[in-house]
Amino acid sequence: MTTPRRARVFSGIQPSGMLHIGNYLGAIQQWVAGQGEKTNFICIVDLHAITVPQEPAALRRQIRELAALLIAAGIDPQQTTLFVQSHVRAHAEGCWLLNCVTPLGWLERMTQYKMKAQKQESILTGLLDYPILQAADILLYDTDEVPVGEDQKQHVELTRDIAQRFNGLYGETFVVPKPVIRESGARVMALNDPTAKMSKSDFTRGHAIRVNDSPDEIRWVIKRAVTDALASIGFSNDPARAGVNNLLQIYELFTGQSRESIESHFAGKGYGALKADVTEAVIEGLRPIRERFERLIADPAEIDRILSIGASQARAVADPKVRVVMDRMGFVLPA
Ligand code: AMP
Ligand code: TRP
Repeated sequence: MTTPRRARVFSGIQPSGMLHIGNYLGAIQQWVAGQGEKTNFICIVDLHAITVPQEPAALRRQIRELAALLIAAGIDPQQTTLFVQSHVRAHAEGCWLLNCVTPLGWLERMTQYKMKAQKQESILTGLLDYPILQAADILLYDTDEVPVGEDQKQHVELTRDIAQRFNGLYGETFVVPKPVIRESGARVMALNDPTAKMSKSDFTRGHAIRVNDSPDEIRWVIKRAVTDALASIGFSNDPARAGVNNLLQIYELFTGQSRESIESHFAGKGYGALKADVTEAVIEGLRPIRERFERLIADPAEIDRILSIGASQARAVADPKVRVVMDRMGFVLPA
């Protein structure tokens, strides 16, 4: 009897600026919770970051900071292969190979591309190609599950289409992955505007809480968070209640309490009490992460050592997979 293969989990995150609690609650927290029972790969996607202009010194700093932050947030390099995308050449190679089986029209309809392209003076080719690089990331690891926030669903669906097309053309080669999106935290909204998603690229004070913000800054932001005039506290899908619902979800994910117990805790209380408790939960939830981050970032050599082990482990999976793909497509493999 053969033992079934352990499920493979793969996700990625861009080193493009400080993480906010949307990244933490939408993605990283579920990566940490899922460690152990499955085989996990977490990739710092530096090749994706350069699809919009980056300053070299800032990029270099942000790659190490992101590694430190992920470890500080609970990614355990003993249980998860944590690595930098550009350290594994197979990702760029896989992207090229998949470029040549993917119709251009599939990329032109991606909503994230359309949104990001609007903000650029000159649109780089890499920005359009971004989802194929993401497909290569995922498919090279025979990934079963891709835990992400809601905004990445379309990219994972495109990855499925590319895998199916390749399998149809060249025979069964890729596992067809599925997105895994939690109900709470899938779309953490801006605190100053609950109709907009919290985003790394909005630097307006009050928009986001960054994972390394000080307690004073967190108090400032939550105090001014937009709510509504209804003065009752409960989870809800009503757009008019999006601000309160967002605060409740943040509270839920930082405390780990059930929705029923949260609603009964706040029954009869006002928004002042809600904000005070959310503030406490966020400050206490982020405190150990910020403290561990400060220690880790002081030792860049140790970060580089961890990333180099991760890269070797990732290469051991991705390199042979690229050879299989090239073989199927008819290349003469180097001896
Ligand atoms: P990025 O910052 O674009 O590299 O995103 C990293 C991860 O965070 C992805 O899985 C995103 O889906 C997730 N994410 C980004 N913004 C949010 C948000 N406002 N709410 C929930 N998840 C998010
Ligand atoms: N595009 C993703 C984001 O912006 C990051 C990413 C790159 C990713 N490659 C991936 C996510 C592979 C999941 C799997 O959030």
